[in-house]
Amino acid sequence: MDAVALPKPEDVGVFYDRFTRLFEILWGDSLHFGYWPPGAAGGGSIEEGQERLTDLMASKVTVGMSDSFLDVGCGTGRASLRLAQAKGCSLTGINVSQQQVEAANQRAARAGLSERVRFRIADAMAMPFSGDAFEGAWAFESLLHMPSLSRAVREIHRVIKPAGRLVISDVVVIRPMSADDEAYYRSTYPVAPMLKQGDYAATLQSAGFTVLEVLDLSDRVAQTLALTLDNIDRCSAQINEAYGPDFIGVLKSAWSQSIKIHLQSLGYAVFVAQKG
Ligand SMILES: C[S@@+](CC[C@H](N)C(=O)[O-])C[C@H]1O[C@@H](n2cnc3c(N)ncnc32)[C@H](O)[C@@H]1O
Repeated sequence: MDAVALPKPEDVGVFYDRFTRLFEILWGDSLHFGYWPPGAAGGGSIEEGQERLTDLMASKVTVGMSDSFLDVGCGTGRASLRLAQAKGCSLTGINVSQQQVEAANQRAARAGLSERVRFRIADAMAMPFSGDAFEGAWAFESLLHMPSLSRAVREIHRVIKPAGRLVISDVVVIRPMSADDEAYYRSTYPVAPMLKQGDYAATLQSAGFTVLEVLDLSDRVAQTLALTLDNIDRCSAQINEAYGPDFIGVLKSAWSQSIKIHLQSLGYAVFVAQKG
């Protein structure tokens, strides 16, 4: 039995409405890990690392200029816009956070892309789209919030065309996680129980996907954790202004504990899957 309740999409929306400003202060425009490729010097900012991860994910996507693409859990739209600019495709981003949808649509307007890139409120577990509506989809660190990964990936399978690709980046379990750590993590962030890489791939297969590739990026993204802690100190004035003076102590302690749990038990993987 689950000690901590499964996340409800509406609660996840409220969480992101509340903390999008914090992520913006600490991480910039994207809400995902950064990527430091093998042999890279290892320097640079989180934002540079995030753009590298977006580009790595984009390199796995097959979408043409006349195609429509789906971003599942689109944040404030940074990665969507980068993909739409690179590939020339149309794109729909869905999200359960009203504030993020508004920010993403404003970002699309500033980029002059509102005609072909649109963001809207929709729950990935029950999408308001007909079958085979999109050429492909991606999901950057959003599926960990779904109360049922299996139901979410079946739903994505329904809305993409035969042979369409789904590219996912997500946190996975790579070493045993204690019950206390899992309870702490899941009561701090609105996430479902995390899976091992193999179980994740099996869930995709059960939904009807063929898993083409799995990249273990655990060591390649971990630098994001310490850089975020540095940013908490560096940006303390902005954080205090946005959340009040008592918040930063809670944040530092929660992030330090999260780093410990990540380094002990969690990793990061990219899955490239194809419908059929
Ligand atoms: C860690 S953020 C990643 C955002 C974005 N993909 C990025 O990389 O910048 C997770 C995102 O998933 C969205 N999300 C979570 N549960 C969702 C659901 N059931 N349906 C749609 N979006 C969801 C959140 O609102 C948030 O935008």
